Amino acid sequence: MAKKIIAVMGATGSQGGGLVRAILADGGGEFAARAITRNTESEKARELAALGAEVVAANAADEGSLRAAFAGAHGVYGVTFFWDHFSPEQENQQAANIARASAAAGVSHVVWSTLEDSRNFVPLSDARMPTLMGKYKVPHFDAKGESDAYFAVAPTTYLLTSFYWDNLIMFGMGPKRGPDGKLVFTLPMGGAKLPQIAAEDIGRCAYGIFERGEEMTGKRVGIAGAHLTGAEMAAALSTVLGEEVVHYSPEFDAYRGFGFPGAEDLGNMFQFNHDFAAEFCAARSVEFSRELNPELQSFDQWLARNVSRIPIS
Ligand SMILES: NC(=O)c1ccc[n+]([C@@H]2O[C@H](COP(=O)([O-])OP(=O)(O)OC[C@H]3O[C@@H](n4cnc5c(N)ncnc54)[C@H](OP(=O)(O)O)[C@@H]3O)[C@@H](O)[C@H]2O)c1
Repeated sequence: MAKKIIAVMGATGSQGGGLVRAILADGGGEFAARAITRNTESEKARELAALGAEVVAANAADEGSLRAAFAGAHGVYGVTFFWDHFSPEQENQQAANIARASAAAGVSHVVWSTLEDSRNFVPLSDARMPTLMGKYKVPHFDAKGESDAYFAVAPTTYLLTSFYWDNLIMFGMGPKRGPDGKLVFTLPMGGAKLPQIAAEDIGRCAYGIFERGEEMTGKRVGIAGAHLTGAEMAAALSTVLGEEVVHYSPEFDAYRGFGFPGAEDLGNMFQFNHDFAAEFCAARSVEFSRELNPELQSFDQWLARNVSRIPIS
């Protein structure tokens, strides 16, 4: 029987790449991977083709290109790319394009990578954190949560993702040496637990959702590999680096003022995650994530494989 095609947005990136690799790793499975990229000639696109993926060009900003790319697919993995443009409005537009193109192609299952709209927890009138860009508290969360409504047009699973451990490698969030020579891990979460995951495991969990199929449509599913405090993460880093790593939790206002692109958005995000840690963790079951993806990594397992890739400065 012909395999059912899953069209994967962000296939050359973290989330989509994990899903494409999960599909291809299960050679006897029911799915085939269609990797969507803006550039079919890039090195990463060629690598996916060499692994056995069908590589197809489309741009999330162009609904027509998505309709063509989703034609004949059984499923679509939808993810948007906030940090490429820092624009909630563009994120809304691209999510709407993915939803409409999925409906037009008549796909049976969409997995939409989303996050909470923080304004349902912290209304704009709440002065504990600044309102950003006129109408958001955590722009990269709010735009995704707001976009959930677009997916009413297709059978969709709403996948709540978590903080990637890969941020320690790719986002400069690894430990840094302080003036006293000690390694410091900065995470403005106080003593609260943060749901977190290996980026590769997001795609593997999505694969488990596609495998379960119809029973998962219309549902919200949160995933995490662990719920850890900053101090617990620092302790795990200390063990694997063989040197003490101290957790430092700056005030949210101080973090918002760090000045790097997105600092205010991330400062508000950590404050939201901190103030609503119970709800945020409850929405992301590690146990269910492991049922979806039996290979789900713990932080210790991820560190053992990736510690040499964390830049220490
Ligand atoms: N970092 C975290 O802790 C975290 C946690 C939860 C959620 N998120 C969310 O994850 C999202 C990003 O996902 P990711 O980390 O998997 O991304 P990523 O690794 O940065 O990769 C994104 C891929 O998407 C493709 N892409 C970018 N713009 C596109 C467009 N207009 N049309 C089609 N494809 C496009 C790019 O591929 P080509 O160049 O090949 O087209 C790129 O390789 C963000 O919105 C972020 O808010 C991040």
